[in-house]
Amino acid sequence: MWWTMRIDVLTLFPELFEAPLKTSLLGKAAQEGLLEVAVTNVRDFATDRHRTVDDAPYGGGPGMVMRCEPLAAAIESLAGRNSLRRVALMSPRGRRLDQSLVCELANEPDLVLVCARYEGVDERVSATLCTDEISIGDYVLSGGELPALVIIEAISRMLPGVVGDWESVTTDSFYSGLLGPPQYTRPPVFRGIEVPAVLREGNHAAIERWRRKEALRTTRARRPDLLNHCSEEDRLLLDELAQEEAERQRGEQS
Ligand SMILES: C[S@@+](CC[C@H](N)C(=O)[O-])C[C@H]1O[C@@H](n2cnc3c(N)ncnc32)[C@H](O)[C@@H]1O
Repeated sequence: MWWTMRIDVLTLFPELFEAPLKTSLLGKAAQEGLLEVAVTNVRDFATDRHRTVDDAPYGGGPGMVMRCEPLAAAIESLAGRNSLRRVALMSPRGRRLDQSLVCELANEPDLVLVCARYEGVDERVSATLCTDEISIGDYVLSGGELPALVIIEAISRMLPGVVGDWESVTTDSFYSGLLGPPQYTRPPVFRGIEVPAVLREGNHAAIERWRRKEALRTTRARRPDLLNHCSEEDRLLLDELAQEEAERQRGEQS
């Protein structure tokens, strides 16, 4: 049984979400009722004549800070439509996004993503209204809109029915615990590099084994930290890889 996940986004720039939410798999997820994303402009909750949402920081310093009241009103306006169980502030100080956090969020019936601008939000917003702070990496963007879109797209891939071929999700980098194996399509030879013979021979068990081994080879070279919890079967394949490489080296030296 498929259900509709609802994501509410709070932002000062709703227009940044228009094209991405209509395009490709996100557009399809919305059309098929698998994912509903509602974007709300925080400025609509400013109460003064100039619709001000920011103010100078206490204690001085550069830039402006997003005020509590419009954000609090925007978040609280969602009650009834959103359970408010997970209200995540986009923040470089937050928990770093990875596939396990994406899967955790995709299991929620709904979610709120709060996009800040300026120097960020008044600390009392995160202290009293948010359940999570999420960072998409150790660098600083000008706003939380792109991080929110990254989270929405990553979650959408985890929702049953969004990616037609579920096997393509389970073999993706990180989902399987490893980086993905190399992929090839036609032509069989490009600039002197041949597609590995095993992929053209149609033996599915051999292809699967080759792919797992190549995923392990790439992961060992680029992200050895991911191998810390690998299975006994993967350990045996890693030993096999090490033996093959040692033999190749001996062959080259003799
Ligand atoms: C210019 S940044 C503020 C940076 C803040 N002064 C700091 O040093 O952490 C404005 C907003 O963009 C969003 N943002 C920037 N980089 C981000 C990241 N790596 N992950 C998630 N959100 C980010 C956050 O909502 C942040 O409050």
